[in-house]
Amino acid sequence: SKLTKFVDALPIPQTLKPTRPRHGKQGDFYRVQMEEFTQKMHKDLQPTKLWGYDGQFPGPLFDVNHGEPIQVEWVNNLPSKHFLPVDKTVHNLTELPEVRTVTHLHGSETKSASDGYPDAWFTKNYQEVGPHFKQKIYEYPNKQRATTLWYHDHAMGITRLNVYAGLVGMYIIRDRHEKRLNLPSGPYEIPLAITDRSFNDDGSLYYPPQPDDPADNIPNPSIRPFFLGETNVVNGKVWPYLDVEPRKYRFRLLNAANTRAYQLYLDSGQDFYQIGSDGGLLRRTLKMTKLAMESAERIDVIIDFSNLEGQTITLKNDLGANPDPEDETDDVMQFRVRSPLKDDDTKAIPQHLSSIPSLKQNNITKQRFLKLVGSTDELGRPLLLLDNKLWMDPVTETPALGSTEIWSFINVTAFTHPIHIHLIQFQVVNRQPFDLDLYNQDGSIVFTGPATPPEPNERVWKDTVAAHSGEITRVIAEFGPFTDDYVWHCHILEHEDHDMMRPMRVIDPKK
Ligand code: C2O
Ligand code: CU
Repeated sequence: SKLTKFVDALPIPQTLKPTRPRHGKQGDFYRVQMEEFTQKMHKDLQPTKLWGYDGQFPGPLFDVNHGEPIQVEWVNNLPSKHFLPVDKTVHNLTELPEVRTVTHLHGSETKSASDGYPDAWFTKNYQEVGPHFKQKIYEYPNKQRATTLWYHDHAMGITRLNVYAGLVGMYIIRDRHEKRLNLPSGPYEIPLAITDRSFNDDGSLYYPPQPDDPADNIPNPSIRPFFLGETNVVNGKVWPYLDVEPRKYRFRLLNAANTRAYQLYLDSGQDFYQIGSDGGLLRRTLKMTKLAMESAERIDVIIDFSNLEGQTITLKNDLGANPDPEDETDDVMQFRVRSPLKDDDTKAIPQHLSSIPSLKQNNITKQRFLKLVGSTDELGRPLLLLDNKLWMDPVTETPALGSTEIWSFINVTAFTHPIHIHLIQFQVVNRQPFDLDLYNQDGSIVFTGPATPPEPNERVWKDTVAAHSGEITRVIAEFGPFTDDYVWHCHILEHEDHDMMRPMRVIDPKK
């Protein structure tokens, strides 16, 4: 039975209060519990069993200031059995506890020991810990510019399941520069974590145990190459609505889906005013008719509902040409301009937002050519790899601290992969198409056109970039301010869990 759209009000995630406020040099301390709980995700669904931070999906909102470090203890209070199908054939999971967690603050500049390395997992009461586990209490310096980050589970081999179960939340860093811009704030600034889920009739989450059309010999459960849910879920509700006043609102959008890429637009035909991206404010406000968002990308927008009193506006997802008529994910949520205007809207849509230095001026010490490539695993299942290497293979991306490198992602697969590098924010240099058919015949890379600059809304700090099929996507980054072990990977979680992830080690050249 199909779920009716736009019958539940959009929940607004609660802002987290410190467990212990700042004390001396130490910043605010937060203890956040990962718990099993149930939540009403739609009026006509039974409560859904979920795993979430502090018993919420999405988790509580961190709202912190630039320059004020915080400490977080992420406590695992989860059952010892997973409620989603765990495939133990990937990464020798038979040897490991079934339920392991480790939290990564996506997009943050954090020391390695607090970064949520996939092998730094731990179980309930830290009874067992992974080989990279270093400390219980994570430290976030919050020294980067104001932006929207997000936190999510990153445990080796089960990230897709832990995130699907609900282990995601958002994290805002503010700074004085941004405050001076007089952007919509308070009740008019709303985070929107957009994702997709499927449900069983009893209200429980459905995650398919195997690929569609599984080969006879593959295990059950078996990892899938992708997951697309039947419904869109925003802030934990299926296809919600939000009553708004006729004024400007700021929405911090996050694509928190396992696989799905969104192409968002408003059915009123009006534009979004994009002001920010993964790593903070753009240089200038951009009018955008459509917003492309791969998994893990963030987009900060203003939508102006002034003069739209009484109207209902649907946030839509463009499914492209000839969509399946059964597919209902062309709807995301609804805005209803039916709340009275409380006071005059004095908020601005500034033209100039920030200045962003170009890294191209730096001395480039290394260029890396990294192929995104299809292969098969030992059970004959499709496997996607970074430069033909497995997660377990020795580290090869070892930039020197403080050095600037260009990484060229050569995508010889048939689809887009959102590539994410931990620790740093990078800049997109360009994209260049090559002849994929020719590559598939003889392995040669022959360009079919000139390099094109990034999209206007990508000329900003990014931590995740869409690397399209048959293109080389080049990014430039300065590696620092910390050394040691991090990772880079495809953010399609089904790919990440199945070896489309590699270690990265930032080396101190003086040691
Ligand atoms: Cu959002 Cu390594 O991930
Ligand atoms: Cu991928």
